[in-house]
Amino acid sequence: MIGFDYSMATAGVPASTIEEFGGRAEACNRMLEEGTGAGADFLGWVTLPGAVTQAQLQAMEEAADRLRAVAEVIVVVGIGGSYLGARAVLEALGDPFALLRRERSGPDVVFAGQNVSEDYLYALLVALEGRSVGVIAVSKSGTTTEPAIAFRILRGELERRYGKAGARERIVAVTDGCRGVLRELADREGYATFVIPDDVGGRYSVLTPVGLLPLAAAGVDIRALVAGARDMEAATASGVSFANNPAVRYAAARNALYGAGYKVEILGSYEPSLHYMGEWWKQLFGESEGKEGRGIFPASVTLTADLHSMGQYIQEGERMLFETIVSVDRPRYELRVAEAGDEDGLGYLAGRRLSEVNRMAEAGVALAHCDGGVPNLRVSIDRIDAYCIGELIYFFERACGISGYLLGVNPFDQPGVEAYKRNVFALLDKPGYEEEGRRLRERLRGL
Ligand code: PA5
Repeated sequence: MIGFDYSMATAGVPASTIEEFGGRAEACNRMLEEGTGAGADFLGWVTLPGAVTQAQLQAMEEAADRLRAVAEVIVVVGIGGSYLGARAVLEALGDPFALLRRERSGPDVVFAGQNVSEDYLYALLVALEGRSVGVIAVSKSGTTTEPAIAFRILRGELERRYGKAGARERIVAVTDGCRGVLRELADREGYATFVIPDDVGGRYSVLTPVGLLPLAAAGVDIRALVAGARDMEAATASGVSFANNPAVRYAAARNALYGAGYKVEILGSYEPSLHYMGEWWKQLFGESEGKEGRGIFPASVTLTADLHSMGQYIQEGERMLFETIVSVDRPRYELRVAEAGDEDGLGYLAGRRLSEVNRMAEAGVALAHCDGGVPNLRVSIDRIDAYCIGELIYFFERACGISGYLLGVNPFDQPGVEAYKRNVFALLDKPGYEEEGRRLRERLRGL
């Protein structure tokens, strides 16, 4: 079960202040369950882990198996909430050196549609030559430019190679149940589809087919992932006391710190496989809280690597930071520092496990950062496997919903994301945006 500890946050706020926030955080947690807060139309994720049925899981596993049977490479097309969750889980659970393996146990899963880089997509098409390919296109709106462009190119490639009928067997769309261009296209072309529930927003959607289908295709045990999330749904329910509810405690602690002037939260981990969990977490909290001139700025580091780049700033830069460390109790494997004398000055470590060295680094850094005025929060998970990652995902989602309500914003909308999209459409002369395009070009010429 996930542990949460704020004893090292008291460098920034007294425990009594966090406890005061605790009462309000519990009320916000009840609002999530009762649907009485802002954005109540988007609370489907709250009960999602408990509501996913065996039939739904089986349908995703079967679709994944069909793709695995015809494809050596599966390209998952999506951006933001339609991308980061699957990528984060895959990186956490995957083999970091898969590229070096001659023998593969399943298809390679790669991502596209999260940028519009000509070089990225060109390189992908070249890399796909000679390999059989499947595509999972994920877009709730079905109109997002980046994945739409990537999907058009990849669909064209599949049709060129396999014909329309062959492409149909290799494409699965995950989108809205009835609206949007991707839904229309999928229905017209006869692609297999999975539905993103109306009441689950992009950044809360990893436990829907948005995340589960690509993960099943990659060979991840999605049942264990959902089981972890389901147990965390129970562990963070509003009936669970403040002392035992990690999501309420985390939300209370980070808001108490924010109130005391700590405006930036750095999520860190000493396991590099959790790097993309940091990316997913940044979207979850950044898009949920950053509005109306408010919100903690979410940043992330991978340790110990980033101590050699960001460590100086964290230790001695402007004092507006606090850290949340995702700590892993048990490594998957065992490796010790070799017994090889003391020529390299490491004799004192001989025979000791690397996980012990890593743990001491984590403890030493936390103390140093606290002493330097960076309060520390600690989220601990037992190990990195599908079950524990499922727990971690739901824990962060729940804490994020509570936190957003504590902050007084709607954590389930993202009105600010539209501003740049309008400008890009206008500058590219999308029909309907011509006048705006002329105005923007004038502005650019004047700069
Ligand atoms: O969290 C969100 O809502 C966004 O990040 C979206 O997921 C992202 O913009 C992609 O949208 P769509 O799935 O509609 O293509």
